[in-house]
Amino acid sequence: MVQIFIPKERRAGESRVAATPETVKRLAKGGGQPWIESGAGLDAHLADDVYEAAGARIVSGDDGWRGAGLVLKVGPLEEGEAEALREGAAVVGLLAPHKAGEILARLARKRVTALAMELVPRISRAQKMDALSSQASVAGYKAVLLAASSLGKYFPLLMTAAGTVQPAKVVVMGAGVAGLQAIATARRLGATVEVSDIRPAVKEQVESLGGRFIDLPVMQEGGEGSGGYAKAVSEDFLRKQQEVIAEKVAAADVVITTALVPGRPAPRLLTAEMVSRMRPGAVIVDLAVEQGGNCELSVLGQEVVRSGVRIIGHENLATTLAEDASMLYARNVAEVAALLTKGGSIDLSDEIAQAMLLTHEGAVVFGAAAARGATA
Ligand code: NAI
Repeated sequence: MVQIFIPKERRAGESRVAATPETVKRLAKGGGQPWIESGAGLDAHLADDVYEAAGARIVSGDDGWRGAGLVLKVGPLEEGEAEALREGAAVVGLLAPHKAGEILARLARKRVTALAMELVPRISRAQKMDALSSQASVAGYKAVLLAASSLGKYFPLLMTAAGTVQPAKVVVMGAGVAGLQAIATARRLGATVEVSDIRPAVKEQVESLGGRFIDLPVMQEGGEGSGGYAKAVSEDFLRKQQEVIAEKVAAADVVITTALVPGRPAPRLLTAEMVSRMRPGAVIVDLAVEQGGNCELSVLGQEVVRSGVRIIGHENLATTLAEDASMLYARNVAEVAALLTKGGSIDLSDEIAQAMLLTHEGAVVFGAAAARGATA
């Protein structure tokens, strides 16, 4: 039987937890023995006793890290955590593989098997494990709420005795999982929504949510790589795209940017010049800020005001909805744990596990996975 440890996340501002009482039962049913670090769920409003009632053992951090065969995390390993792992143990989480170079070498030296939730392949069998999607959806929703609460205007069209209030104009850039949720949320609040993406396939999804798709005359150059992800486009393409969207952005009250290309810095979609042409009081929320930002003026972890435009660069928005984000993430990671422990010990034979591998048997194996991501 595999001891499965869920530690308290130590990253500053991280409120999520990698298991809930519901998934503790699932982990136990799958043949694992769930251990929860005392207090691990408190920031997501889950006390030790509800985990205990679901069948988990509450342990100290020291005992958990030292004793477990499998550790389930939300975010990347923090200082000291790689060292705290038992030699030969496995760890699963959103481990930020593209930024984890040095830590991967340390994990390999300890013969730790590290698996990244970011690398779950986009095949239908793995959909339940797709944490990028579950967390991106939370972030897309929250981005719109942040924008709405920062804007000095209503979102909906209102007919009042004092006259008509025009609906807010929202532009969403990048209509992947986060973008689609942002469109749906902004539409529910009554805004008009225009959307830019380089994958023509999303046009229909955007329109079904009530958004207006901005056609790019240069679309044939951009588009879709494997796994439903975007592929990188040229500087020339980005320039032409900026020309097309500049007018829409200048007229917008809110711009939400979510554009990403796997394994690459985020594409620069909003230049300083474009921001300077927006109206004072407009709001930008840059969800790509952790990958360098879609907006030239975004600052990681901060809100800045430039020529009257508020640019929100908060990282890790999913954590601000810690209860539901944890509930969804815990289900994703419990599915992975069930796959890994189905034989009573860590089993990496499944193609999903293989795709997620960062380190194994003393070696960093992420290179091969990175190459797959870069061509996706
Ligand atoms: P993502 O987070 O990597 O990228 C977000 C969006 O940015 C994508 O729609 C991408 O096309 C867009 N983008 C990239 N460069 C851009 C540019 N220069 N301008 C405008 N937009 C740009 O992608 P995400 O959200 O993780 O997923 C993308 C798609 O993958 C989904 O919409 C879906 O179709 C597919 N998918 C498939 C799954 C499955 O089959 N299991 C699961 C989840 C998503």
